[in-house]
Amino acid sequence: MEKNTDRKWWKEGVVYQIYPRSFQDTTGNGIGDLQGIIKRLDYIKSLGVDIIWLNPVYTSPNDDNGYDISDYRNIMSEFGTMADIDELMTEMKKRGLRLVMDLVVNHSSDEHEWFIESRKSRDNEYRDYYHWWPAEKGTPPKRFSYFDVDSNAWKYDEPTDSYYLHYYSAKQPDLKWENPKVREEVYDLMKFWFEKGVDGFRMDVISTISKDIDYPELPGKYKGDFIPYYADGPHLHEYIKEMNQEVLSKYDVMTVGEAPGVSKEQALNFVDEDRKELNMFFHFSLMSLDREPGETFKMRQEQWKLTEFKKIFSEWDDVFAEKGWGSLYLNNHDFPRSVSRWGNDSKMHWQNSATLLQTFLLSMRGTPYFLYGEEIGMTNIKFDRITDYQDINTRTRYEGIKKAGGDLNAFIEDEKRAGRDNARTPMQWGTNLNSGFTKAKPWLKVNDNFKEGINVAEQEPEKDSVLNYFRNMVQVRKNHLALVYGDYRLLLAKNEQVYAYLRTWENERFLVLLNFSTKRNSVTIDEVHFNKAHLIISNDDAINNKTDNSFELTPYQAVIYKVF
Ligand code: GLC
Repeated sequence: MEKNTDRKWWKEGVVYQIYPRSFQDTTGNGIGDLQGIIKRLDYIKSLGVDIIWLNPVYTSPNDDNGYDISDYRNIMSEFGTMADIDELMTEMKKRGLRLVMDLVVNHSSDEHEWFIESRKSRDNEYRDYYHWWPAEKGTPPKRFSYFDVDSNAWKYDEPTDSYYLHYYSAKQPDLKWENPKVREEVYDLMKFWFEKGVDGFRMDVISTISKDIDYPELPGKYKGDFIPYYADGPHLHEYIKEMNQEVLSKYDVMTVGEAPGVSKEQALNFVDEDRKELNMFFHFSLMSLDREPGETFKMRQEQWKLTEFKKIFSEWDDVFAEKGWGSLYLNNHDFPRSVSRWGNDSKMHWQNSATLLQTFLLSMRGTPYFLYGEEIGMTNIKFDRITDYQDINTRTRYEGIKKAGGDLNAFIEDEKRAGRDNARTPMQWGTNLNSGFTKAKPWLKVNDNFKEGINVAEQEPEKDSVLNYFRNMVQVRKNHLALVYGDYRLLLAKNEQVYAYLRTWENERFLVLLNFSTKRNSVTIDEVHFNKAHLIISNDDAINNKTDNSFELTPYQAVIYKVF
């Protein structure tokens, strides 16, 4: 029987997520590309990270920036060619970096040849690759769609007088996993990439691939929140198991599923080692903490509380205490920048809150995932105008509110905190034009605060910069296996300002103290003796007031002590 303390490269690795469109343009079209990533590999290596997760780079008409794939075995022309990805892999291998690609197979693009065929006639050989509902049966039962102005996941298609299903945009029809041929196609394309040397997949909305193909009315209990229904398809685990058997088990690769709607109770069904399904998945508990119940993108009125934040991380840690393995993230390309959301991006607190969050992620149990730019403390851009947004999600929701006569100003205010484009602005490399991302007009505006120190070039030589703190903290994790595999125990659970916990492994014990507030805060921990403790890292060089059992933290200070 496997244990979750069995050592694995994907448990000890730190992941760096690259949104290729926004990383580095080398061709002068305002869009990042694969050569740009190759150019920056030495920088990435210098961070100490081990694994790159690349958002989709396959051929795509870009309705949803590559999450609508029209050819799974080719590269989007804006990003480069197959030769470029081969070169990227070779250059990464030379540097000991691993590559995880995005696998987007809940849906394809409507421009994929399978769909082009499928919609031609009811007896086309690809008809059953997608979900169709013949119009003579009336209007299909309601299904929600994320990127549809009317939130309607069934789109009427004239040529065959039928509706097709799309959980995302109408240009992203859902693939019909119930058809064994579809599953075979997916396994084949996975093998194609593994044979090329890819080290794993991040599996886009993998929790929703299985559908009840009788398409019943949405069961009552899901009426307010359809996402758990989508994630509870009847054959989900059968398909993932089959995928493991047919493909994953044959390679030394890592898998992380994106799993909206999956609860703590269901978690081990995906990642219990003995079930042979996936290695990890991304839950959405933190991502919904400051949102309206059942809403992925709408902010709630009430400010989130640190006790809620701790509860989420502590409960999820507990899920994987004996079996399975967690994944840790504070933002990604779908959610706003971590420092703006969970820290404080004001001039006064930006630096320490950015490094506090890095300390947190790198001292928790699970595999940590950082979004490009998080290592230099990139912040939300907070666009004022709808015309600045490029994201299909923001644009369609805006249209929907407009159509319904809703409050568009309130929506824009909300998007400053919730919009996905906040996380997608170009990487801030330097102080030159467009921060060195492109010489042309960037596809999405560069955040102007690259002129205020939020860029690689200026942080590079500064000993205490956010960037160099990140590098040091990555090494702290690497030097202490306790921070990877150690047991986690929450202290001071009710404290609304300070997050404190112990990580213990074999004979070593580490105390992590994180002051999530703009005030100084003193904590007393009876079981710790600061007089004997050994400081491992601090994001502030202030001299702290302390006694043997108490410690006063400065605003947003993060410290790790080895305790005895
Ligand atoms: C996932 C992706 C997101 C995309 C959606 C549809 O949630 O992370 O960017 O829009 O799936 O593919």
